[in-house]
Amino acid sequence: MANGRRTGVSDVITKAYLDSLLLEVRHLDACLPDTTLEIYGKTFKTPITTAALSHMSKNCADGMVKMAKGAHLAGAIAFSGLGAKEELEGMIAAGASVIKIIKPYKDRDSIYDKIRHAEKAGAFAVGIDIDHAFSRGRGYDEIEGMEMRPLQLHELCDMVKATKLPFIIKGVLSIRDAEKCLEAGVQGMVISHHNGRLDYSVPPLMILPEIQKRTMGRIPLFVDCGLESGIDVFKALLLGATACSIGRPLIPRLKEQGEEGVRDVILEMTKDLEYAMAMTSTKSLKDMDSSVVHFGNFTW
Ligand SMILES: Cc1cc2nc3c(=O)[nH]c(=O)nc-3n(C[C@H](O)[C@H](O)[C@H](O)COP(=O)(O)O)c2cc1C
Repeated sequence: MANGRRTGVSDVITKAYLDSLLLEVRHLDACLPDTTLEIYGKTFKTPITTAALSHMSKNCADGMVKMAKGAHLAGAIAFSGLGAKEELEGMIAAGASVIKIIKPYKDRDSIYDKIRHAEKAGAFAVGIDIDHAFSRGRGYDEIEGMEMRPLQLHELCDMVKATKLPFIIKGVLSIRDAEKCLEAGVQGMVISHHNGRLDYSVPPLMILPEIQKRTMGRIPLFVDCGLESGIDVFKALLLGATACSIGRPLIPRLKEQGEEGVRDVILEMTKDLEYAMAMTSTKSLKDMDSSVVHFGNFTW
């Protein structure tokens, strides 16, 4: 950490780890693959989702609504981060299946209020990013005048019970938290270091297989951080992810081309993923085999 600001070292380590993962090829008995994702009773064309972003209007007017529209056009799920109620309503009105991620506000009533709003607005699922309670050098974080506080397990248990929507915890990066989430009855986790909120965070793909072993396919596992191509997504799926979220790589295309730019990035990455699946005899998302991955312990 330099002067209390993030250095980006976790992003560098995450990229190096991703690039160290190598793929064997399997041609005999191969076929054209199917990237259909079935999750929480719905079907999507791709396991690639937009990440829980926010403040996109800085890049493009109605940025989050256009992000959601792009996801919908590509047959993908859209996540939503911090944002006004009207923004979430706009994303859902754009046709998207939206997973709303709420901040861990100190004012727990406002969390419940946002859960109820997400339900009423027709969100696909709801959740909390548990990794946003603290701020470097400032104690608890404060966003838009609202203080944050770490979530306690008993509070999480109550929140999960308070909604019929699938409840997802974003920011799981340890077996310990994964086990607590399971105990609370969450229906999904996002394995993420939230673009390096802590320097030297373990790369999500390094811890993913251990978390997958604990969850044994009982709940979907989303992954984000540093996934930039369909090949990166494929590596995550092979190591246990159910679906993968893309954040920063979407922003320049959103800025240049709006929803069509977002749609095209997701479609391009899905084609990339399809090719990698075909070249490794991976027929569908249910057919992911981690033995395709080789852990290359060298730099190149
Ligand atoms: C501009 C921006 C805004 C973000 N806002 C949120 C947010 O409100 N809630 C949240 O859970 N994550 C937020 N994130 C984190 C992303 O969801 C994601 O975890 C992170 O960017 C890593 O994915 P990436 O490497 O594909 O960008 C934000 C990221 C960016 C770049």
